[in-house]
This record gives sequence, structure tokens and C-alpha cells, in this order.
Amino acid sequence: MIRAAAAELSRRVAEWPRVALVLGSAQSSFSEALEDRVAIPYREIPGWPVPRVAGHAGELIVGRSGTKRVAVLSGRVHLYEGWTPQEVVFGVRVMGLLGVRVLVLTNAAGGIRESYRPGMQVFITDHINLQGVNPLVGANDQSLGPRFPDMSEAYDRGLLELARDTARGLGMNTGEGVYAAMLGPSFETPAEIRFLRTIGADLAGMSTVPEVIAARHMGMRVLAVSTVTNMAAGMQAALSHEEVLETGKASAAELKRFLGAFLEKLEV
Ligand code: HPA
Repeated sequence: MIRAAAAELSRRVAEWPRVALVLGSAQSSFSEALEDRVAIPYREIPGWPVPRVAGHAGELIVGRSGTKRVAVLSGRVHLYEGWTPQEVVFGVRVMGLLGVRVLVLTNAAGGIRESYRPGMQVFITDHINLQGVNPLVGANDQSLGPRFPDMSEAYDRGLLELARDTARGLGMNTGEGVYAAMLGPSFETPAEIRFLRTIGADLAGMSTVPEVIAARHMGMRVLAVSTVTNMAAGMQAALSHEEVLETGKASAAELKRFLGAFLEKLEV
């Protein structure tokens, strides 16, 4: 099915970009600003899972940000909606087949590290997969990647360095940290957050890790950025999806500036 989707997309777009972005909750404004845009609704791509959660869009956009051509997956599907891990990584695999070499993912996350503040952008340096699943379970498609892919540098050091430089240039107050992937959809309990802090996590979220695993399986280089939309459970008053969306929207402009400047510096 990923091959049918890739074939359809290569029919629609003559030359596929070498960079793709996966944008999370309330972060679609970046793709709206692209020039020479071609938007392909997910439902027109064979096998592509279509998001059902309020606040998550559902189209694939190819366009230009400054001098860089990019593909943007605006809206993603999550395990907590009942999608299988293979469905969750469908789009990332199609990007890999189309020749994408650098994958940039954004998400909303709860801040576990005390120094984080809501609205802050945090570059993910590593992850802890607590979702209980892995998109590579099952027969390995050797044409995509190895049976046992290395994850010792899942988040590319060079891209991280470029992200730091970019953020510094823009005067942003960013953080760096380890992302714990939870299944959701309930937010964590305060006890779970204390557990996550103890095992070395700085952020809690419900996405991204399956996509990163699939991307690394195919040898793509990965940068991932979390917007801290709230402090994690037990560190602030009760959490709500509305708060996550509102804070996400409020810091979307900064994230958009960052992504534009980052892509300008990126060499692929
Ligand atoms: N926990 C998990 N996922 C999240 C959170 C959180 O606190 N905020 C946004 N996504």
C-alpha cells in the first residue's frame, strides 16, 4: 500500500522534495504560508490514514519555504485513536520511498523538566518508548531497512546543532530534552510523571516516536521539536485538550519562524 501511495504522489508532483515535515496539533500555519503550494487531501491518496481528532488537519502539501522545497504532512494519526502502528507511520514510509532524506517532526508535549515553561520549544535529543508497541513489529521489509535498526543516534546530532544555531539567531529561549512516548489518550497521572522524571524523561507526549523509529529504519535523518503546551500532571492545575491547542496556537508563530529559518540553513 505504501508503494501505491508513493506512485500516486510521484504522478502528481514531478520532483519530490528531499525534506518532509510532520506537523502536530495547531501547527498547520507553517504549511499555509508555503509558496507554489500543491495541497493533496489525505483521502485522495491510496491507503493514507485520515485523522479524526478535532484540531488536526489532513492534507499533504508540497511547496516552497524561502528557497527550499518541502513536503508537509499537516495532521497525523495517533495510536490512541485506534490506528495500528503501521498506519501511524504510513506517511513517513511513503516520504522515505519518495526520496525524503530529512524528516522534521513537531508535536505538543507536557513539560516534566522544572525549567520548562508553557509555550517553549524543546528540541528532542532522545526518546523513551513507553507506548508498548513498535511499528517494526512483524515481518521485516528488508527493502525498507534492517531487522534491528540502531537507535543510538535517533535524533541527528548535525540537525540538532543546526537547530540550536537557528534558535540562537532568532533569540529564542529553547530547551533540549528526552521525550517519553505514552499511549494516551488520558493524560498521565502525577505518579506517572514522577516515574517519568525518575527514568530520565523531560517531556511527555503521545506521538512522534513511531514515526521516528520508521524514519530511522529507512535511514532518514530526524529532527523533532516539542512545543511545551502545559506543565505535566501534578505540576500545574488539571490538564485539558483545549489548553494544549490554545498554547500550541499561541506559540505557532515562533515555531513557524524557526522552521523557515532552519530550512534555509539546511543542506540536503
Ligand atoms: N502529556 C502527554 N501528551 C501531551 C501533554 C501531556 O501533558 N500535553 C500535550 N500532549
